[in-house]
Amino acid sequence: MSATAKKQAPNAEDIRARKGGTPLVSLTAYTTPMARLMDAHCDFVLVGDSVGMVLHGLTSTLSVTMEMMILHGLAVARGLDKAMLVIDMPFASYEESPQQAFRNAARLMAETGCAAVKLEGGVELAETIRFLVKRGIPVMAHIGLTPQSINTLGGYKVQGREEQAEAVLADARAVAEAGAFSVVLEKVPQVLADRITAEVAIPTIGIGASVGCDGQILVVDDMLGFFTAFKPKFVKRYADLGPLAETAIAEYAAEVRARSFPAAEHVFADQAPSKG
Ligand code: KIV
Repeated sequence: MSATAKKQAPNAEDIRARKGGTPLVSLTAYTTPMARLMDAHCDFVLVGDSVGMVLHGLTSTLSVTMEMMILHGLAVARGLDKAMLVIDMPFASYEESPQQAFRNAARLMAETGCAAVKLEGGVELAETIRFLVKRGIPVMAHIGLTPQSINTLGGYKVQGREEQAEAVLADARAVAEAGAFSVVLEKVPQVLADRITAEVAIPTIGIGASVGCDGQILVVDDMLGFFTAFKPKFVKRYADLGPLAETAIAEYAAEVRARSFPAAEHVFADQAPSKG
């Protein structure tokens, strides 16, 4: 590689090959500027359907649409150079049949240039995952707490405690056997996450799971402190930018009301300054 050659973004098989290696780093992103900030630091960036709650003020991910995912997917694609782009399939875009899933996954890939899609589900989605992978669509699976199913799960509860553990393990095995290149484990007990990581041949990506997973993901607005409606236990706030932004906005409002903004350096003279 020449000194000026750009590092290529990893593809699904590169991510799969990272099983058991240096932990994979991932965050969600929904906009170009945020994608640019994380591009050099993440192995893959997910345009999560969390966009509905984080940016659009929805109370769940259930009303996120294909159009929203494509719009934000395109924005994030413009900000990425080095990291792989993965986009979530929204609720009701894939559950009906493998054919419906293929149509919508292919549309996400064709219209945004993303390298893979993510969908929520285990054993019940294995046939769909197999159908997509056989037709050229790399799939990241998402099991444990699957937020698109909160109405049947009874809320945002930990999944896989005690006698539930075998079902989550079966989900992990099923998606790996169906050809998923990695699997997100959300809100599962640490011992179970470690067991799944040891048993399945694909990388596990933890969110509220275990430090022993093959990688970690967080919602960027959670870890930067922009999303403050609630804070799940698994979120670590690496910065508190929400309050910082509000302080800046309050300062601006006070200066406008006091006529101290704009100041002399922010306004234009009647005559352009001479160039010589
Ligand atoms: O939608 C999302 O942001 C996600 C991550 C939390 C994994 O699915």
